[in-house]
Amino acid sequence: PLVSMTDMLNKALEGKYAVGQFNINNLEWTQAILAAAEQEKSPVILGVSEGAARHMGGFKTTVMMVQGLIEDMKITVPVAIHLDHGSSYDKCKEAIDAGFTSVMIDASHHPLEENIETTSKVVEYAHSKGVSVEAELGTVGGQEDDVVADGVIYADPKECEELVRRTGVDCFAPALGSVHGPYKGEPNLGFKEMEEVRDLTRVPLVLHGGTGIPTKDIQRAVSLGTSKINVNTENQIAFTKAVREVLNNDSEVYDPRKYIGPGRDAIKETVVGKIREFGSNGKA
Ligand code: G3H
Ligand code: ZN
Repeated sequence: PLVSMTDMLNKALEGKYAVGQFNINNLEWTQAILAAAEQEKSPVILGVSEGAARHMGGFKTTVMMVQGLIEDMKITVPVAIHLDHGSSYDKCKEAIDAGFTSVMIDASHHPLEENIETTSKVVEYAHSKGVSVEAELGTVGGQEDDVVADGVIYADPKECEELVRRTGVDCFAPALGSVHGPYKGEPNLGFKEMEEVRDLTRVPLVLHGGTGIPTKDIQRAVSLGTSKINVNTENQIAFTKAVREVLNNDSEVYDPRKYIGPGRDAIKETVVGKIREFGSNGKA
């Protein structure tokens, strides 16, 4: 069923595992992620960037599609539909009004006071509707859709404490060296700060830029309070590789199901691997 993230993330923090946020781009993407979660008996978060929502037709279409699939596929595990990197109060409200069960307000590029102010406003509206909220501080490197960074800025633990305390967010993403898209070399995650932020905030922490982080770093992050890990690029790469393989091997093919199908299978396989790596299998 469709639920907010609150319960699943609190359980993950307590049980020392992480729930994956897997971003969706279309129908087949969503089918693949839901099928993987159901097979692994894992809670799951469907991440929707503003760009992906636009691509799929809008917030309402996205929600209706997810609801339809949950019914048709007889999904029994908890599913959250989460706005990824919401750019403003208005966008978050729009998503909530369309039926999203969770939103991220990303005001991390604004000064602290403004970030706190905007985030508080989102929390007030979201909580009145039973919707969970994620906020961010610092700068995640790289690029994802409309979210472009020209460097990495590590979040300051004291500022994190202040933001979480004053806003009442349900989970929190301190940028600590992670990057959207592929890493250039090994990621350099701020584990010392992560531990500090966990001790100061006591809320489930979120790790953005999950693609390309070695398993040992994932495990360390989870042991330090990371309860949600976002993955997008890795599924995009898996999907495109599978589609390209079919198209390269068969210049006659024209039925889209013949190449999108293998793309969908590749996403499912990737997500099953991530769910097991994050330890959320069997936790639904
Ligand atoms: O918000 C989404 C994630 O942070 C995705 O990061 O594309 O590097 O896996 P990724
Ligand atoms: Zn992100």
